[in-house]
Amino acid sequence: MTDVVVAGGGVIGLAVAWRAALTGLSVALVDDAPGDGASRAAAGMLAPVTEAAYGEHQLLALSRASLERWPSFAAELQEASGCPVPLSTAGTLLVGVDADDLVAIGELHAYQRELGLAADRLTPRECRRREPSLSTRIRGGLVVPGDHSVDPRALHAALVVAAAVAGVHTVPARAAELVVQAGRACGVELADGTQLPADTVVLAMGADSSRLPGVPAGAVPVRPVKGQILRLRGAPVLAGTVRALVRGRAVYLVPYGVGWLAVGATVEELGYDARVTAGAVLDLLRDAAEVVPASTELELVETLARFRPGTPDNAPLLGPCVLPGLVLATGHHRNGVLLTPVTADVTATLLATGVLPEVAAPFTAARFSGVTGDLVAPCS
Ligand code: GLY
Repeated sequence: MTDVVVAGGGVIGLAVAWRAALTGLSVALVDDAPGDGASRAAAGMLAPVTEAAYGEHQLLALSRASLERWPSFAAELQEASGCPVPLSTAGTLLVGVDADDLVAIGELHAYQRELGLAADRLTPRECRRREPSLSTRIRGGLVVPGDHSVDPRALHAALVVAAAVAGVHTVPARAAELVVQAGRACGVELADGTQLPADTVVLAMGADSSRLPGVPAGAVPVRPVKGQILRLRGAPVLAGTVRALVRGRAVYLVPYGVGWLAVGATVEELGYDARVTAGAVLDLLRDAAEVVPASTELELVETLARFRPGTPDNAPLLGPCVLPGLVLATGHHRNGVLLTPVTADVTATLLATGVLPEVAAPFTAARFSGVTGDLVAPCS
């Protein structure tokens, strides 16, 4: 019997397991393909200000709380794992291609200013001074100096090592069922029938979280939101993240590592359709080329589709839920990498003390169900 079983080995599950183990809890983590879900398709943007959206004040506050933690989180993770966690602090540029794109950027900027967020409008020349490879067709933009990025695959690799060093026992198997006894989550059953008993189960299976048998119907309202993303490689073309509106269509280009460029991403409500489509690849490459013409010189190394875990309000599900013994760390939608530090910290605190930190209080599943969960009455 362990104190905690974490179901899901993406960046969220691993970070929770790592931080929980550091509090002295015994932790097992179950995943047959750790990091091959949404984490695999992440671009690694840490960009709450450029992503600020009307009506998402609480998510913005959580995102900014997580962004603040990023530098120390990356440093601790690097120290613990001995692996690089490359954090880029070059800022984020948002540019537009036509007059309507500029109007949309102007509205976002007005909203950012209303909220007191740091962002500055730039002329086309100023945009190109920051990123000389931008097309001369760019009509203007804005810069958000505090929106950063991290290499998402380096992050995952470091978390694997840090979790192991902290004593997390990783079980390379598929979580087939949540074990529920006397109305309480008591462990996870694997595909071969083996049971991993635990006092508490953390559900961090991304878009699959609601599909794990044993999870009460409606308790974890996540749906798959398909994203297709490309990875290019060659001579570096950008210093920092460039997001763009290309006649109303959003595209982002995120440099990382040595000469890598992530180009994403579609946002598609198509259920679990995992196909990479010609149309999506065409749109992404065409839009990327319109913003950074030199991107056409790069090698197209990878195309992939994965599922973001979307919730009804696009914010994550954190903390206890209607089923005692089950803790949620899922539903991170477009913000899994950004929200990794805060999710790991609040979940580890909850597991160690029974108290969910205030910053996470608005994000329990009770906002949808009206039922406040608890962790009491441990498994016997
Ligand atoms: N975080 C970017 C995306 O989900 O496409």
